[in-house]
Amino acid sequence: MNAPKLAPSILSADFGRLADAVRAAEAGGADWIHVDVMDGHFVPNLTFGPKTVADLRSATGLPLDVHLMIERPEAWIDRYVEAGATFLTVHVEAAGDPAAALRAVRRAGARAGITLNPETGVDRLLPLLDAADLVLVMSVHPGFGGQPFIEGALDKVRSLRRALDERGLGAELEVDGGIKPDNAARVAAAGASVLVAGSAVFLDPEGPGAALAKFRAATAVPRVTPRAPQERPG
Ligand code: DX5
Ligand code: ZN
Repeated sequence: MNAPKLAPSILSADFGRLADAVRAAEAGGADWIHVDVMDGHFVPNLTFGPKTVADLRSATGLPLDVHLMIERPEAWIDRYVEAGATFLTVHVEAAGDPAAALRAVRRAGARAGITLNPETGVDRLLPLLDAADLVLVMSVHPGFGGQPFIEGALDKVRSLRRALDERGLGAELEVDGGIKPDNAARVAAAGASVLVAGSAVFLDPEGPGAALAKFRAATAVPRVTPRAPQERPG
C-alpha cells in the first residue's frame, strides 16, 4: 500500500485569496488541489465558475481536481476542461447519462471522475468503472465543508477497491468529506488512493503546511527494513 495522495479542498480557504491558498498548499506538499463547484440547485450552496478554475490554473502547477456538484453537468464539461481541470468529476445522480458524460470529459481532454452521494448505493457506479479515471466516494452530504465523516462511506470504499482490483482497473479512488489526520489512516486502509480535506487543511490554526504534515505523518506507510540474513540451524 502506498501513502495516499492529499488533495486540499479550497472550499474552506479564504475566497479573497485563493491563489495564495493554493500556493501555500503546494509549498506544503499537496498532491492535487480539489475545487468544489456548486450551482445552488444540486446542492444548497454556490461557488466557482470556469474563470476561477482558469485563474487557479495560472496560480499552481498541481493537478486541479474539479468536483462538479451541479445539475446538467454535461452542459459545462467543455468549459471546465478548457479552463484547465485535470480531473473533472460528475455526480451519478446529476448526469442524465453518466457513461456519456464520462466519455465527454475524456474526449474534451481531461481525466473523467464519477461520484455518488452518501445515500446512493455503489451499484450505480459498478457499470461505470471502466469509463472512469477517478471514483470519488462522498463521506459527507455535498454542499459544505466542516461536516462530520459518515462512517458508512468506508464500506463503499472497500467494495469499490475490491471491484477495481478484481477488474485490473487503475482508477484513483478518492474520498471527500470529514477527513482529518485522526481518521485518514482508516480511510487509506479501506483502499483510498486520494484523500480530500478542506477544513482540516485550511482552517488549521498552524496553517496548511503544518496540516499537510500531520496528514502525512498519520498516513505514512511504515518502511520494512530488511532483516540481516540469519544462519540456519543445522
Ligand atoms: C463538500 C465538498 C468537500 C469539502 C470537504 O461538498 O465536496 O470537498 O470541501 O470539506 P471538509 O474536509 O471540511 O469536510
Ligand atoms: Zn469535493
